[in-house]
Amino acid sequence: MIGRLNHVAIAVPDLELATATYRDTLGASVSEPLALPGHGVTVVFVELPNTRIELLQPLGKDSPVARFLEKNPAGGMHHLCYEVDDIRAAAAGLKAKGARILGDGEPRIGAHGRPVLFLHPKDFCGTLIELEQA
Ligand code: CO
Repeated sequence: MIGRLNHVAIAVPDLELATATYRDTLGASVSEPLALPGHGVTVVFVELPNTRIELLQPLGKDSPVARFLEKNPAGGMHHLCYEVDDIRAAAAGLKAKGARILGDGEPRIGAHGRPVLFLHPKDFCGTLIELEQA
């Protein structure tokens, strides 16, 4: 069912420092910061030949990434995003197999303007999974 790895998201306490690390130390191509208040994050996209990395910094006090950073103050891998062809069909199939979808279970528009859903990490090897409609 899942397709390409769309991105790996890394939560960071200092977006400017993390961006400089990817740009200057690792030599990657990085975007300008993009504020996404609806998702509670500011994001920088790191473009790699076969996927991308998203550096996430909390935006606002109710950011889910802020809670993650309380437990992981130095930052860390926050989620993996896999592409699916039809997000509603994917959600229905996963629910039928007992997987838990976070929030109200309805797809929302994600950082790339496409519908996304998040799946409970306890159902997927301890890793938060984002599905994005390709
Ligand atoms: Co993501």
